[in-house]
Amino acid sequence: MEAGDGRVKDHVRAGWTGAVLVCGKCSKKLDGGFGAKGKASLAKALRGEPAFGKGRKAAIGVVETRCLGICPKGAVTIVDSRTPGRWRIVPLWADVEALADELR
Ligand code: FES
Repeated sequence: MEAGDGRVKDHVRAGWTGAVLVCGKCSKKLDGGFGAKGKASLAKALRGEPAFGKGRKAAIGVVETRCLGICPKGAVTIVDSRTPGRWRIVPLWADVEALADELR
């Protein structure tokens, strides 16, 4: 990204106050299991909650990662950047709205 004068910008502004890292491999293994119909991945369901999103305008970014090394059965590992010392294991069919309230 260029600043207009040909120089490359060294940063861009974002509205994020935190980020939630969601293991994409856990999600892939479950093939859905979240959201109203139970067909969405956890990241997608979280991004549908107020304040959460993918782009820079979201208040809390939701980012899918590679395997985080925990590999729970029937659940997804997530890390909240504001509490990096406490990783969460979110079970299949968890109430995403309640989870979002906790993470907000
Ligand atoms: S597959 Fe998700 S933590 Fe390893």
